[in-house]
Amino acid sequence: MTEHPATEPSGTEQPRTGTDRTYKVGYFVGSLSSTSINRILAKTLIRLAPSDLDFVEIPIRDLPLYSPDYDANYPPEGAALKDAIGAVDAVLFVSPEYNRSIPGALKNAIDWASRPWGQNSFDHIPAAVIGASIGAIGTAVGQQSLRAVLSFCNARQMTSPEAYIHYTPEVFGDDGSVHNAGTEDFLRNYMREFRDHVVRVLTVLPR
Ligand code: FNR
Repeated sequence: MTEHPATEPSGTEQPRTGTDRTYKVGYFVGSLSSTSINRILAKTLIRLAPSDLDFVEIPIRDLPLYSPDYDANYPPEGAALKDAIGAVDAVLFVSPEYNRSIPGALKNAIDWASRPWGQNSFDHIPAAVIGASIGAIGTAVGQQSLRAVLSFCNARQMTSPEAYIHYTPEVFGDDGSVHNAGTEDFLRNYMREFRDHVVRVLTVLPR
């Protein structure tokens, strides 16, 4: 778990927008595993998020492998993915690191969303990345890979705080509970910062 050293913890858990609006966040779980620790992390983040964020999962499991041959006529799974991204204000990626990069299923989903050429669903979208690993570096390398992909897709990524989560079952309960106060504070602050990032991006780039 790490945090950018230049970042001050900010604010309270309550919305600081001065409005009653809520922000719809589409979250991607990069793992297809039935016992995914990243799905547990996603559940935890939703539980700790400010109350003005509403979450919906954007599923990636049933997508065929992307081919440009589909560009003229997207299949229902590809169209549904693009519709789902179009219906949210922001996206959150919660992903494992696979072989020091991102899982193929997640890359496939991003490729689908980025096409057809000129209809990139991630253009200007507020975004953040986070991930959990059983290894000590907590998806740090995989997240750099994901950031590079999202950068090319012109997503407006939160750069700080970063969050590299070393998962242990002693700290993370399957129900989204956290059994370590420091970790819980860190994740709650991460979600506050994400909310503030979403508000800032949407202020200048409304969707
Ligand atoms: C892994 N794992 C792994 N962990 C890591 O820290 N760095 C890595 O590069 C990899 N590479 C990797 C490749 C493949 C194909 C698998 C299946 C696993 C281990 C990984 O952290 C662990 O399996 C997590 O449980 C994966 O997250 P989910 O699927 O449980 O969310």
